[in-house]
Amino acid sequence: MRILYLNGPNLNLLGTREPDKYGRTTLPEIEAKVRKRAEELKVEVEFRQSNVEGELVSWIQEAKGRFDWLILNAAAYTHTSIALRDAISAVQVPTIEIHLSNVHAREEFRHKSLIAPVCRGQIAGFGFNSYLLALEAVVSDNG
Ligand code: DQA
Repeated sequence: MRILYLNGPNLNLLGTREPDKYGRTTLPEIEAKVRKRAEELKVEVEFRQSNVEGELVSWIQEAKGRFDWLILNAAAYTHTSIALRDAISAVQVPTIEIHLSNVHAREEFRHKSLIAPVCRGQIAGFGFNSYLLALEAVVSDNG
């Protein structure tokens, strides 16, 4: 099983970015935790981050036939990007939307996710554990 983790804008700043909301764990540290668990579960993971919407769109397109699942923290593009939503719809690779923070407990503009309707599900509010919980969801998925 091959799983592609995609991370959107500003997530490269984790560790120092608004730690009260996102914690103090950096993205490379989150990646290391995911890799450790993936090894235990005997699944393959790839981990990428981009601040550029079009790059994320291209990565989603390229995932078709190469990855079995996408785990996507689209960050602010969650709330704005029809392009990301259309890409997920187009490739039909099952996708889990994740967030570190509980977006529903924050500003109203974060309550709306344009990608949620085309995702299998959403995990939000568990800090870096959202990344690990998504992995558990993937490996225990029964359709
Ligand atoms: C986020 C939540 C988004 O609303 C925000 O724009 C982010 C991070 C999260 O992981 O909590 O950049 O996706």
